[in-house]
Amino acid sequence: MTIKEIITVPDEILKKVSEPIEKIGVNEKKLIDNLFDTMYNSNGIGLAAVQIGILKRILVVDVSNKDEKNQPIVLVNPVIKNLSDEKSIYEEGCLSIPETFVEIERPKICEVEYINEKGSKKILKCDGLLSTCVQHEINHLDGKLIIDHLSKLKKDFIIKKISKIKKSTGRIVV
Ligand code: NI
Repeated sequence: MTIKEIITVPDEILKKVSEPIEKIGVNEKKLIDNLFDTMYNSNGIGLAAVQIGILKRILVVDVSNKDEKNQPIVLVNPVIKNLSDEKSIYEEGCLSIPETFVEIERPKICEVEYINEKGSKKILKCDGLLSTCVQHEINHLDGKLIIDHLSKLKKDFIIKKISKIKKSTGRIVV
């Protein structure tokens, strides 16, 4: 089991656009394992490779309840194909932005085309929490964070607050 450090704001890497994967080889499989280990260790429901410092278009999600069996999903090179007009609102947190929650409205249903961990092309229809989570993680691959949905003033305030906490306590683990 390998738990990686999760990169937090204001690290500039979180603003970068991740590169598509050409082939799922040994390194990519290792990366997927590391993403799951790190995500479960932090009680997250999704994690993108950029959050552990790798600019590749890979993300993992698992929105199962605690009392359910795990439902791990790996999405490589995910592309959103359809978005519903109907919206849903969740208060979203992010492992890269400690102690911050932002209410965000997103399409309630989305259809995503992606490659799975075995290299097969798949389509996933997502609803509710899974839909929000997948859209949140795909945003990470494009360098977009939940605080980018806020005004510049609020965003700067949050970044300043987190930078202060980081300075006073050293490394944060969430
Ligand atoms: Ni996030």
